Amino acid sequence: MIEEKIIKQLIKKSLEARNRAYAPYSGYKVGAAVYTGDGSMYSGCNIENATYGATNCAERTAIFKAVSEGERLIRAIAITGGYETGDELEYAYPCGICRQVISEFADGDTVIIVAVSEEDYRVYKVEELLPEAFALKR
Ligand code: THU
Repeated sequence: MIEEKIIKQLIKKSLEARNRAYAPYSGYKVGAAVYTGDGSMYSGCNIENATYGATNCAERTAIFKAVSEGERLIRAIAITGGYETGDELEYAYPCGICRQVISEFADGDTVIIVAVSEEDYRVYKVEELLPEAFALKR
């Protein structure tokens, strides 16, 4: 079980990363933060591109930062997102590609936290958001 203190720290880091989102085309800013096997945290934001297709989601930015530093297990990932209009964020669920990438580095205890604030969030097991994830079996 992931401690509530860790959940709140992850959400805070995710919101901070969201403020650094590069989203001039959609205006939809997303932040993410991962808690890894060795207890470190890495955050990321979405990074859009004029080609649109080269855009990278916040979740994958955070995960790729962690993995490129040697991490191989994601124990939790928090995601925050929404448009600038209005004072409240929305629950920003991860896209299909990001669910698959989360699943690559998850174990049976990994949780996905979809948050609008440190007080308002939903916690899911990876299996709930991506049942029967693709995996190579030899
Ligand atoms: N986006 C993410 O960062 N994560 C997701 O899981 C879904 C979408 C970003 C990509 C793009 O910059 C913007 O949200 C609108 O699609």
